[in-house]
Amino acid sequence: MNAVPAERTANASSEASATIAIVLLGTGVVGGALLKLLDTAAAGSLQLVGAANSRRQQTDPVSLARRNLREQLNRHGAPRDNANLLAALDASGAAAKVIVDASASAALAACHPEWLARGYHVVTANKTLAGGELSGWRALQAALANGGRYGDSATVGAGLPVLSTLRRLRRCGDGLLTLEGVFSGSLSWLFNQYDGSRPFSELLREARQLGYTEPDPRSDLSGEDVARKLLILARNAGFALGTDEVQVEGLVPEALRGLGTEAFLARLEELDAPLAARHAAAASRGGVLRFMARLNQRGQARVGLAEVPFTHPAARLYGTDNQFALTTTRYHAQPLVIQGPGAGPEVTAQALLGDVLALG
Ligand SMILES: NC(=O)c1ccc[n+]([C@@H]2O[C@H](COP(=O)([O-])OP(=O)(O)OC[C@H]3O[C@@H](n4cnc5c(N)ncnc54)[C@H](OP(=O)(O)O)[C@@H]3O)[C@@H](O)[C@H]2O)c1
Repeated sequence: MNAVPAERTANASSEASATIAIVLLGTGVVGGALLKLLDTAAAGSLQLVGAANSRRQQTDPVSLARRNLREQLNRHGAPRDNANLLAALDASGAAAKVIVDASASAALAACHPEWLARGYHVVTANKTLAGGELSGWRALQAALANGGRYGDSATVGAGLPVLSTLRRLRRCGDGLLTLEGVFSGSLSWLFNQYDGSRPFSELLREARQLGYTEPDPRSDLSGEDVARKLLILARNAGFALGTDEVQVEGLVPEALRGLGTEAFLARLEELDAPLAARHAAAASRGGVLRFMARLNQRGQARVGLAEVPFTHPAARLYGTDNQFALTTTRYHAQPLVIQGPGAGPEVTAQALLGDVLALG
């Protein structure tokens, strides 16, 4: 018997004068974790006035207050219509009206500039705008000039204080010279484990079972997600890079790219021999393999497998740790290194909550 009350009490009530009202887009792994945080005292008087998945949405206060809101949305609720969600924010009378994007939808991300221009704040885990085409990034910057705020902590390092640090350094007149690190929790785990004693495919199956990779691990292995994070960081540091300016060396061979997920999973062993050869070559030189992202002083960006010496900071990572090493005009002799768990629903949802609370 579950002793938890069936309804949220404070946050989803119809208080007309909450300081911050939010609409949540996406109730998957991260959005679900955020709904749990909204039930805690930390969420204070945040008022949830709407929630949606890709197919349905809810703005009724009684339904929003139900603890099984996610399951309810799968069966009940109105068809998706952003206009009705924005109307619920308007009707809240809140001082800050916030759209929280916990989806990976490029179509939703493309709406961020318009929402900001209309006076809403946007808090997002969705990387597809800031880490997508340069035109989208520019539209975002233009919209931000109107005073709306963009909470993007969750887009890089699952909320590790990377973007906030980078921006703070910039405000102080410091400049990023180079950036390098491990930006993917799943790829970090895989190469932290991979010492040649077990085939890479075996580790990959284990990582998938542990939920460290996407259901189709090619999403992780392609390096595209890491490239988006590198673009977000580079752009925030003042390098207006286009997507075609990041050189991405993914781990999926050409022959395995067009397959369905099951067919790909059945052929994972084809990854083993090339990686074993690269591992052996690195080990013979006293190095290890890491899936690195790098931006150099000339603004050249690269994502891919790299050999690093045992003494390199990236050689000493644990679990799904991310690592960001920033060399700046003032952190010059030694880089400023930010490291820690860079994936997971709880820390990512916390990053979203932190960005929302900062609007109060
Ligand atoms: N998981 C992590 O550890 C992590 C860490 C950092 C950042 N992120 C980012 O966080 C975002 C969410 O990740 P996740 O793991 O929670 O993904 P997920 O479990 O697949 O959930 C995505 C959610 O977005 C919904 N959605 C898709 N299109 C939508 C639309 N047009 N309107 C409203 N909702 C829509 C989906 O609806 P349906 O349920 O109907 O499909 C689903 O509820 C992604 O951008 C991801 O890159 C995740």
